[in-house]
Amino acid sequence: MRLSKLLSTLYLIIIGITGFSSASRNNDDEFRPRPPLGKKEFREELQSGLHLVEFFSPQCPHCLDFAPIWHETWRKFHKEGERLNISFVQVNCIKDGDLCNEEGILAFPAIKLYGPQGFIKNYPDKYERTEKDLITFAREESLDSINMEIIDPTISSKNLNAQDFNELLAGRGTKPCFVSFWPSNDHEDPLAESKNYDFCPPCQSFQKVWAQITKKLLVHGVDTGHINCKTLPNLCHEMGFNRLVNGAHMERNYPRVALVLPGNGVNNLFVFENGFFSSVWPYEDFVARAILNSKAPEISSEKILQLVHQTFQFPENSDHPFPSQGLHVVFSYDPDNAVPEDFHVLEHLVNHLAKVPNAYLHKSKDDISMTARFSLDYMYEKINYNGSESIKSPKNEYLELNLVPRSPTFYIFKEGDWVPHLYVGDSTTETRNVEALAKWFNESALPVVSEVTSYNFNRLLSFRPSEYDAVVIQLVNLTDSESIRLSNKQLKNFITAAYDYEDVRMQNVVNVRARKRFDKNTRVKGLKAAKASSGKIGKVYREEIKLEDNNKVILGYVDISKGIRVLEGLGFQKGRNDYRSGDVLVVDSRSSSFTENDVFGNRLTTDSMYSIRETLIKLILPEISQFHESLQSEELFFDYSRNPDIFGTVKKHRVLYYFFVLGTLMLIIKMLSLYKSAKARKRYNAKKNAVGILGQQSKKSKD
Ligand SMILES: *[C@@H]1O[C@H](CO)[C@@H](O)[C@H](O)[C@H]1NC(C)=O
Ligand SMILES: *[C@@H]1O[C@H](CO)[C@@H](O)[C@H](O)[C@H]1NC(C)=O
Ligand SMILES: *[C@@H]1O[C@H](CO)[C@@H](O)[C@H](O)[C@H]1NC(C)=O
Ligand SMILES: *[C@@H]1O[C@H](CO)[C@@H](O)[C@H](O)[C@H]1NC(C)=O
Repeated sequence: MRLSKLLSTLYLIIIGITGFSSASRNNDDEFRPRPPLGKKEFREELQSGLHLVEFFSPQCPHCLDFAPIWHETWRKFHKEGERLNISFVQVNCIKDGDLCNEEGILAFPAIKLYGPQGFIKNYPDKYERTEKDLITFAREESLDSINMEIIDPTISSKNLNAQDFNELLAGRGTKPCFVSFWPSNDHEDPLAESKNYDFCPPCQSFQKVWAQITKKLLVHGVDTGHINCKTLPNLCHEMGFNRLVNGAHMERNYPRVALVLPGNGVNNLFVFENGFFSSVWPYEDFVARAILNSKAPEISSEKILQLVHQTFQFPENSDHPFPSQGLHVVFSYDPDNAVPEDFHVLEHLVNHLAKVPNAYLHKSKDDISMTARFSLDYMYEKINYNGSESIKSPKNEYLELNLVPRSPTFYIFKEGDWVPHLYVGDSTTETRNVEALAKWFNESALPVVSEVTSYNFNRLLSFRPSEYDAVVIQLVNLTDSESIRLSNKQLKNFITAAYDYEDVRMQNVVNVRARKRFDKNTRVKGLKAAKASSGKIGKVYREEIKLEDNNKVILGYVDISKGIRVLEGLGFQKGRNDYRSGDVLVVDSRSSSFTENDVFGNRLTTDSMYSIRETLIKLILPEISQFHESLQSEELFFDYSRNPDIFGTVKKHRVLYYFFVLGTLMLIIKMLSLYKSAKARKRYNAKKNAVGILGQQSKKSKD
């Protein structure tokens, strides 16, 4: 699973940075299951965690048939298994006959579940011996509360009282603490075994989730606690969890969680605002990244370039093939000139970044403007793929306007994205302006290639219409490793072609600006020649020519292994079923029409990067296209422009949108600050300052 992969990476980072655990991963066994366990290993190893054991004989035909299934299951599952504390092991009963005797093995292959106290159960007959069923069984058993008790009977989450929680808020904890808040109709410990959550079904399911969270976080050095909101109504009110106090029986009420970090930073309370999940990963991810991001670890220029140079691709051997799509916000500062106030904004950003699943915060004293240039050099290496075209090189004028080195400032680098994003503020106060940064972050945080679904298609089509003109979609087929490999190859061309277009676009932005300047000068000259009044001339002369960084495209993909209906669902032609992996559809977001043909009238595919680039030019910048035939295009089946979702509507009304964005942010920050200032008087002033900056800026941005 992509998420488990992401998480294990995350934990590796956390482990590396905080030294929470000395665990290290052995990469050598990545694609090779371990050899069968001997008797001594078996006894030692099975003392902790759960084990699914296959007792086999190398001579039994059934075992031979089953071997590839077992291996494949292991390969797919072992990483997830690590997290769930269950592993797949084998015992060779010819080599270790006495062990198999002791375990009462009568037939091969025998599959049995073991815990630290020994045998738990046989692999049930109702399950088939397939990859899918083996994994289902392993997951079920590892999440089974009795097994969890067997593995580790201690309940690690502590029932907190008001004083405990205030101590944590005051930064006097020794470890990060993840706290859950529960609705209740009595004063019992919310996690007591006898506790009955009939009145709150989500609470029922969250009890199990929380039990797992507490255990997992414990391993990673994070404490856990829980709070009964019936017992501590004031505290829950102050946290903004009113429903937990008043609405124990309210429909759709669910437990809330928040992370408190130790130490006395400006901001050490992080509320999980992303809704409710009955799986563990969103919470783990939240905790892991909040801890990591609150440290804003230093990142080097080399490391950034490594991330940028990663190839965007779908993992081949995974049951959920999503690319990792990490998004790295880098605060670039000059260690000789930076002042402590420059760093305060980082603490406020952590909360914001927590909402975007792959977002990481770093700081760097390296020269990141150079890093940005190197990243672009890499892009030019890639787009100079056509020997018969003249060499393309960075568009310096564009870069000077867009990547002006300033210090301190922020950059966003995305994994597999060759074009860096610079935060362009007006002055140093801008780099301390949390909402302006948050807004910039949201605007720049589009994935390199987004999965296009019926849920987000409209949002992509209406995303920043003054800058983006098209959504370009590549069809991929994520059925099996072979089709994924092919799709990845095609995706490489697809992305390269998009950057090839990006180069043309950058030059065009500069040219348009130069032309406007030229026009302006001509007009001034004309007015002078006509002896116009100096006022009139001055007015034209003072007209500001802004850089319009527009005509961009959004990249997306659609997985056709889910069926061609997916495309119909998006509004592409009904009844067509000859779409293939590698086909490219260009959707003009201005008119909700699309083309699947290139400038020559042929089907547009990733086979020709040149055609993709020229088609994009023809569609978006027709005045500079060298092709005269017009593109064949068709209306989308659904008129997205007339059927916008709520978010789209809000976005179209800019004032409303900014108001909305600003309001949400202010509310969150204000809530936190109100709460904390009441609770921790000592830090009152720091908090008030932070709100002060926001207050000023909100007035400013309304102008
Ligand atoms: C697995 O279970 C053992 C106890 O049997 C425990 O010591 C260990 O911390 C657990 N590991 C994880 C990753 O939960
Ligand atoms: C940014 O986007 C997230 C979701 O992706 C949303 O929750 C948040 O309100 C947005 N904030 C701003 C400032 O636009
Ligand atoms: C996707 O790939 C699989 C396996 O290669 C193939 O059987 C299937 O037909 C492909 N699907 C489409 C829609 O092309
Ligand atoms: C290279 O560019 C020429 C036009 O300049 C074009 O005809 C040709 O198809 C391109 N080749 C590739 C491999 O894209």
